Amino acid sequence: MARCLLARRGIDVVGVDPAGASLDVARSKPGADRVRRLHGDATALPPLQVDLATMTANVAQVFLTDDAWTATLRGVRSALVPGGWLVLETRDPARRAWEGWVREATTVRVDVPDVGPVESWTDLTDVSLPFVSFHDTTVLPDGTELHSDSTLRFRERDEVEASLVACGFELVDVRDAPDRPGREWVFVARRA
Ligand SMILES: C[S@@+](CC[C@H](N)C(=O)[O-])C[C@H]1O[C@@H](n2cnc3c(N)ncnc32)[C@H](O)[C@@H]1O
Repeated sequence: MARCLLARRGIDVVGVDPAGASLDVARSKPGADRVRRLHGDATALPPLQVDLATMTANVAQVFLTDDAWTATLRGVRSALVPGGWLVLETRDPARRAWEGWVREATTVRVDVPDVGPVESWTDLTDVSLPFVSFHDTTVLPDGTELHSDSTLRFRERDEVEASLVACGFELVDVRDAPDRPGREWVFVARRA
């Protein structure tokens, strides 16, 4: 949604996602036709020279190995103009967000137009810090169940800071997320 809001202001926006289904959802949002979508990830981008790169929705936590994380940061760096900005957020492990990832606390029912009521929830399956794994269940109106397993890595603030510097960024600021105060760090960095 953030990308559509920027595009509506007349800014050239490129969205990158390795999941085709996520791109389909993104393409259905209002204003989406103004956003260029790339199927892939930051390690295999076409030549780009952008002023700002963002990783939204804690996507920084999907990179489980140091190699995957640094390859992503280096890919983002190459896509930026000199002095270009990178803004990303990640959950503070001290807040132990995973403790709320249980069925009773996460169940949502959504009335999807043309589909009907869809229910989904998350079950925590393993905590082996810095890795946290969980199982998502989605039940369609005809009773069909969809399942997915995910693992996220909870990096400490100093780890993220060090990796940014090691990958050629200058750390400018670490802020609180305005919509989720106290739960996440927002790292603001520039291509050094
Ligand atoms: C929690 S969703 C966020 C969706 C949307 N960007 C938003 O902010 O509302 C995480 C998205 O990150 C995508 N993702 C996973 N690995 C990625 C990667 N290496 N590069 C870019 N996106 C990735 C997933 O496919 C998924 O669509």
